[in-house]
Amino acid sequence: MTKVLAAGIGITKFGEHWEKSLRELAIEAVLKAIEDAGIERADIDALFVGSMSPGRFAGQEHVAALIAGELGLKCSATRVEAACASGGLAIRHAYHALLSGKAKCALVIGVEKMTEVGTGEAIITLASAADQEWEAYYGVTFPGLYAMLARRHMHEFGTAREQLALVAVKNHEHGSMNPIAQFRNKITVEDVLNSSPVAEPLNLLDCSPITDGAAAIVLCREDFLKVEKPVYLIGSGHATDTIALHERSSLVEIKTTKLAAKRAYEEAGIKPEQVDLAEVHDCFTIAEILAYEDLGFCNKGEGGKLIENGETSIKGRIPINTSGGLKACGHPVGATGVKQAVEIVIQLREEAGERQVKDARIGLTHNVGGSGATCVVHIWEKGFS
Ligand code: COA
Repeated sequence: MTKVLAAGIGITKFGEHWEKSLRELAIEAVLKAIEDAGIERADIDALFVGSMSPGRFAGQEHVAALIAGELGLKCSATRVEAACASGGLAIRHAYHALLSGKAKCALVIGVEKMTEVGTGEAIITLASAADQEWEAYYGVTFPGLYAMLARRHMHEFGTAREQLALVAVKNHEHGSMNPIAQFRNKITVEDVLNSSPVAEPLNLLDCSPITDGAAAIVLCREDFLKVEKPVYLIGSGHATDTIALHERSSLVEIKTTKLAAKRAYEEAGIKPEQVDLAEVHDCFTIAEILAYEDLGFCNKGEGGKLIENGETSIKGRIPINTSGGLKACGHPVGATGVKQAVEIVIQLREEAGERQVKDARIGLTHNVGGSGATCVVHIWEKGFS
């Protein structure tokens, strides 16, 4: 069976883009990806756009057709929505189209323009990805939902407040080396602990921000295109759980992460110990600690120790979020899953400059929707020596 490879990547700066529309952000990322892949637009025979809520954030629905029209593409164009996992799920749809032989060269875009509305409205829009009747109606937005997960983890495993803060400190450190990151300032544990409370125990600096941005990746069948530095997509897993937290049997694990990871590891034929680096969904600091455990990088309850021991920094045993993660790089929700893939491709091609992880061969991306109702995990392998 032919393999699927990442042929080209493109990304905009993440942050506030008052001067650019959603369309312009998407096209900027796409043009870079097409140039990087060395293909013609006419080569693209499938387009998948991950975007969570372009209608509510930027007044524009039907974004797949919009972008296809702007690029002059005549192929099928599909928007994929799975809250903050929209980008990761768009990659999975492209992967399947390529593996099935229905497409030979697919373009995947993740895009969100969130700052057209104020923070209050942005938060209400984000909360529409939680359970409206049982959560959002009572005023529980995502910081509140993740705060409950944090409290339970602290209660069951003694995870320390400072250990949560260390996730943000590390990710700002990594983001300081990433030219596209929204925040490039380094912070300390004290900064996190003294930042404004949002939903106890989470403060401002435990949260990912509101962000505009786009990322694009050209995925091809290997029998269609050969590239100099191939990075193969070798495993994909997707899982779904209840949208509301109160219907779950445990608040100290994200079951979809475990399941999606198991499926991706099996498809790739690898074990968690073989992963050299990962981009995980740190929408809040506790989310990164849960991801360490549920992806199998440490035992349940030991995520706090993993960050405290420095094992997830660039020079650590398993570097996590070298891009700066959602925390520092920014979280334009529909774009995040594609941005994670872009970062892993940059790393595996050895083009990450001062944030380069040495000798990495296998990278993982972990993209979560809502408080864990959706999870998509992908495994990427360097295809050259
Ligand atoms: N990290 C670091 N700095 C942040 C930040 C963050 N997450 N969010 C905002 N800031 C900074 C801004 O840059 C601004 O700095 P300045 O005064 O120097 O310009 C300042 O803090 C105030 O920004 P503002 O936009 O007014 O913040 P806010 O209080 O309106 O919003 C949050 C802050 C945390 C409430 C908001 O970013 C949020 O809701 N984040 C979570 C998003 C989310 O739920 N995503 C989905 C995940 S599942």
